[in-house]
Amino acid sequence: MAAESKSTYDDVPYTSLPFAQTHPDRLASLAVLFGLEPPSVERCHVLELGCASGGNLIPMALTMPGAEFVGIDLSSVQISDGQAVVAALGLGNIRLSAMSITDIAPTSGPFDYIIAHGVYSWVPDDVQTRILEICSRQLTPSGIAFISFNTLPGWRTRGVIRDLMRYHAAQLAEPRARIEQARGIADFLAGGVAAANSGYETLVRSEIEALRGQADDYVLHEYLEETNEPLYFHQFVERAAKHGLQYLADADFGTMIASNFPPEVAKALVRIAPGVIRQEQVMDFLRNRSFRQALLVHDGVPVNRKITPDRLRGLAVSGLFQAEERDFDIRSNDVVAFSGARGSRLRAGSGITKAAAMILNEFWPRALPFGDVVRRAKAVLRDWAVSSAGTDAEAEATLAADMLRCFGSGMVQLHARPSPFSAAPGDKPAASPLARLQARRDIRVTNLRHEPVQIDADLARLMQLLDGTRSREEIDRIAIEWAIASARTTGTEIPEEPERLVKDRVGVALQHLARVALLL
Ligand SMILES: C[S@@+](CC[C@H](N)C(=O)[O-])C[C@H]1O[C@@H](n2cnc3c(N)ncnc32)[C@H](O)[C@@H]1O
Repeated sequence: MAAESKSTYDDVPYTSLPFAQTHPDRLASLAVLFGLEPPSVERCHVLELGCASGGNLIPMALTMPGAEFVGIDLSSVQISDGQAVVAALGLGNIRLSAMSITDIAPTSGPFDYIIAHGVYSWVPDDVQTRILEICSRQLTPSGIAFISFNTLPGWRTRGVIRDLMRYHAAQLAEPRARIEQARGIADFLAGGVAAANSGYETLVRSEIEALRGQADDYVLHEYLEETNEPLYFHQFVERAAKHGLQYLADADFGTMIASNFPPEVAKALVRIAPGVIRQEQVMDFLRNRSFRQALLVHDGVPVNRKITPDRLRGLAVSGLFQAEERDFDIRSNDVVAFSGARGSRLRAGSGITKAAAMILNEFWPRALPFGDVVRRAKAVLRDWAVSSAGTDAEAEATLAADMLRCFGSGMVQLHARPSPFSAAPGDKPAASPLARLQARRDIRVTNLRHEPVQIDADLARLMQLLDGTRSREEIDRIAIEWAIASARTTGTEIPEEPERLVKDRVGVALQHLARVALLL
């Protein structure tokens, strides 16, 4: 397996992206919700296993200068790509090494956060065991491990398609040819089963529809690698337990909540599947789940699953709330419907929650400590002379309960540290140095919320000016020169007042970059 992994990822490197759900900030927030005291995010030690070219680890190192990062991957090509980025950014708090998980010295670490994203299911048994051993032996006592894996039952049907793709492409050695053949046979399958008009057809066609949208590197490594062993959630938990590790939570908190199902299903779930593991396992069947992102902690760490709203006190909140009715009146007692990320909805009846939504919108993309949200929301209500139905403490409890629900639906995010960026362009705007570097080659860049963001060619060019040394006037002047030069080259008419037009455009562009968390 080692040899196969090395060659395939060297030949066709994985698109290495940031995964916000693996960020120590997210892991620590979940730990706080479950009553734990996680290691300090700002000064933590992080290990990433199978880090590819560091697309996930490098942005963490950039925004957490007081923390230390180690990333390892078998593919020397991917590691040297990552090392080049580390060198270009001049980061001294991250080390990327080409080595196998099985060769990590037992003396390295300990680490507060260990991340293995997209690795566990794709490596053979001995490496899987080693991953759990490392999490068991090299994780600090209050540390958190993140391990994602392909899971059943969702991978049952996908596995059938994978089997056919591998069978059909087995005769070929060259990766691109294998991908092409595999895609072709999958399309053939989708067309062929259509005639059957069955449940099988529906399952297969939806799987292949999703497959068509995937990049070649994903198809190769997900469908054509020798090893890809999905397992049930409960089996993973049992394996972890053998290494003295217990399940803390899913990185996608909303998937843990039975009440996200219709009420009658949620009620039955509690009855027929008591306990967190059984309940989550049965929910996987209800959802036909195919991928899991499990957080593990040491056995004996006192996980408290009764999540009370007061846990929010130690955390910060960020979120965007789109009121479905524009210009709602905060003084009215009417329920206001908001929509947000991931199709989430909130029906807010209380004044304090409506006020909090306004405040979080104002602060977006930054996070605000929950205590500040409460204080500011109360001030808004006072300013608008909104009479409150209960005491201050009751209002705070209502807001905390609403924010927890919003966290469950994906409408807000919780954070354990202050946001490492500003929400407005400063006098000398500075874009994330990593995003600037990425924008030289690509329109997909990593923002300071640890998410991939798509920009256009004009923004990519403008970002090259945003190194924190140029004033707005200088930026405007250069942008005007570019606009005039471009009009001359393309033969288009130079507008009458190019200065005003370009300044306005630069202003809008800078606001946009701030809104998508690309400005420091
Ligand atoms: C599917 S990719 C995932 C990469 C990245 N973590 C992500 O989620 O985007 C799996 C990675 O694990 C690496 N890998 C496979 N076997 C390994 C081993 N024994 N030791 C270290 N890395 C390994 C591969 O080289 C590849 O970069």
